[in-house]
Amino acid sequence: MAKNLSGRSFLKLLDFEPNDVRYLLDLSKDFKNLKRTGTPHRHLQGKNIVLLFEKTSTRTRCSFEVAGMDLGMGVTYLDPGSSQMGKKESIADTARVLGKMYDGIEYRGFSQQLVEELAKYAGVPVWNGLTDDFHPTQMIADLLTIEEHFGHLKGLNFVFMGDARNNVANSLMIACAMTGVNFTACAPSELFPKAELVEKAREIAKRQGSTVTLESDVKKATTGAHVLYTDIWVSMGEPDEIWETRIKLLSPYQVNKAVMDNADPEAIFMHCLPSFHDRKTVIGEQIYEKFGLKEMEVTDEVFESDKSVVFEEAENRMHTIKAIMYATLK
Ligand code: CP
Ligand code: NVA
Repeated sequence: MAKNLSGRSFLKLLDFEPNDVRYLLDLSKDFKNLKRTGTPHRHLQGKNIVLLFEKTSTRTRCSFEVAGMDLGMGVTYLDPGSSQMGKKESIADTARVLGKMYDGIEYRGFSQQLVEELAKYAGVPVWNGLTDDFHPTQMIADLLTIEEHFGHLKGLNFVFMGDARNNVANSLMIACAMTGVNFTACAPSELFPKAELVEKAREIAKRQGSTVTLESDVKKATTGAHVLYTDIWVSMGEPDEIWETRIKLLSPYQVNKAVMDNADPEAIFMHCLPSFHDRKTVIGEQIYEKFGLKEMEVTDEVFESDKSVVFEEAENRMHTIKAIMYATLK
């Protein structure tokens, strides 16, 4: 039986049990059905939430806004620089003020410690919309997308290619471990996840009958893979100077046709987005001019192929964030 998550914050998956994840996935499916059938579900009418963003966002912000409005809540968005937080007011004071006005707080920013501190003082649920270490709301959407595609999670082989110690990769390793999915971080050893987190993931995976593997050989890592997942090579908050080193380190880890062909014939491609798969962005064009790359972590061919489920995955952010808010606020 899933625990009652009412009143809980959602800061990282490590704070939860596998049956909590199962409960959130089932709840997400229910909300997706309600949305698809146009059935009103203003279950949290009268409540209000505030969204604090210290880094930019499309999917996470819009998911929280639409999900909040669908649930009947009032939604306030505060962008970087438009609140006193950090500059003139401490995190603890900001949390106590917002906690008096709002029923829930979303935070996207830099340190994990900061979101944990907000939660400690707010007195209302705090949801982590991405920190440098973790991106837990993304995980419920990713698991839902995989389960919708294959009909199950346990026993699938999941391979993350790229910067395997970034927020998304860290969270995916724990998400896979908690759901019995075999996780492989396919990366140069410099970009393997931290040993301490790998240890924790392995303990969880063992209980679910799955494995956590670190592998630098692309062919070995991707043979028999059911899910190929990647993320941008330089994350928000990292300095621009790092692009050159990252491109050198990660070019062999691009998800391209050869990688997809080496995977299971039914394999799918996933990406949390945004993605540099062409030159149609400001940064994409700058990288092309400086380094001559017209695509980075994934080729346009794979991104646009029928194996790619990236837009279903993006849609699922909204249904799953709705489930997380409902479960913790109801
Ligand atoms: N995947 C994700 O979190 O996207 P945004 O940065 O647009 O929110
Ligand atoms: N690793 C990326 C994820 C964006 C959703 C970043 O932090 O920029």
